[in-house]
Amino acid sequence: TNPAIIDCDPGHDDALAVLLAVADPRIDLLGVTTVAGNQTLDKTTVNAQKILALAGASDVPVAAGCERPLVGELTVADDIHGESGLDGPDLDGPVAGTVGVHAVELMRRLIERSPEPVTLIALGPLTNVALFLRLHPDTARNVRRVVFMGGSTERGNTTPYGEFNIVTDPEAADIVLRSGLPVTMIGLNVTHRALATTRIIDEFRGLGTRVGTVCAELMTFFADAYQRNFGFAHPPVHDPVAVACVLEPAVVRSVPAPVVVELGGAYTRGATVADLHRRTGLPVNAEVAVDLDVDAFWSMLIGAVRALGMP
Ligand code: BDR
Ligand code: CA
Repeated sequence: TNPAIIDCDPGHDDALAVLLAVADPRIDLLGVTTVAGNQTLDKTTVNAQKILALAGASDVPVAAGCERPLVGELTVADDIHGESGLDGPDLDGPVAGTVGVHAVELMRRLIERSPEPVTLIALGPLTNVALFLRLHPDTARNVRRVVFMGGSTERGNTTPYGEFNIVTDPEAADIVLRSGLPVTMIGLNVTHRALATTRIIDEFRGLGTRVGTVCAELMTFFADAYQRNFGFAHPPVHDPVAVACVLEPAVVRSVPAPVVVELGGAYTRGATVADLHRRTGLPVNAEVAVDLDVDAFWSMLIGAVRALGMP
C-alpha cells in the first residue's frame, strides 16, 4: 500500500504536494506533520489543515511539530509565500483538526503501528524528522526511506550555495543524512525544471473545480513572488517532485553519492555538498536526484488535482 507521512511547511508548493499525495492512490497518506519554515508553525499548521479540508481529506491526522530550528533562529520566507504562508486564494471555510500531540509523537505512533515500512516525505526544514530519528531510533527501523526536498547539486536560493530548507536547519539535515537510513535528495537542480508555466496555470483553472481554481491562484501568487525575487519567468514547484518520486520512481533519475551539509563555512553554511564524482572518499549516503521527466510530472500533478473533483 506504500504508507507515507508528509512533514511540511505549507507553503504554496507544499500545498500542491499534499494534494498530490491525497489524490493519488499509489500512496497511503498516514498523516501530515508540520514544521516552522516558510512561515511560523501556527501558520504552516493551519495551512496544512486548510489544504486537507479542501482536498476532502479531513480524516488524515495533522500534528504540529517544532516551532524553530534545532540551532539558531527561524527566518521565514514571507517574501516568497506571503504573510499567511499561503497567500493568493481565499481558503476560508472549515479546516481539518489536529490530533493534539507533537509531530514527532504522531510519527512514532503511525510508524510503530504500520505493518509495512513507512516512507517519510520531508518538504520543509528537517527539524521534526531529525528529532524523531534521535528520540526513537528503534521505531525508525520501520522507516523505509526518507525522501526530502532540499539542497542542490548546484547553487542555492537562500544564500549563494544554500537552499531554504537546509539553510533553515543545517544541523537537522546533517542528522538525517548521517542517519544510515536510505535517503533521497530532491534538490533545486531538478525542482527548477518543474516550472508552473502559464499553460500549466491555465490547465489548473480550466479544470473548473474549486481545487483547480485554488491551485491556479496559488501558482499565480507564486509566479509573481518568483518574478520579483529571482527574476524567474515561471515559478519552480519544488515539493511535489518529492511526492512524485515516491509515487513513480521513474519520474526522477537519481545517482548514489556522498552528500554532506556544510555546518561551518564563512558564506556556505547550509550548503549541500553532493560529491557526484566521488572525489572526497566519503561514504555514499544518499540517492541524489539529477533529472526529472517534466511531462510525466505535470500530467501526474494535474491528473491528481482533477481527481479531487468537486466543482
Ligand atoms: C523549498 O523552500 C520552500 O520555500 C519551498 O516550500 C520548498 O520546500 C525550496 O527551496
Ligand atoms: Ca516546503
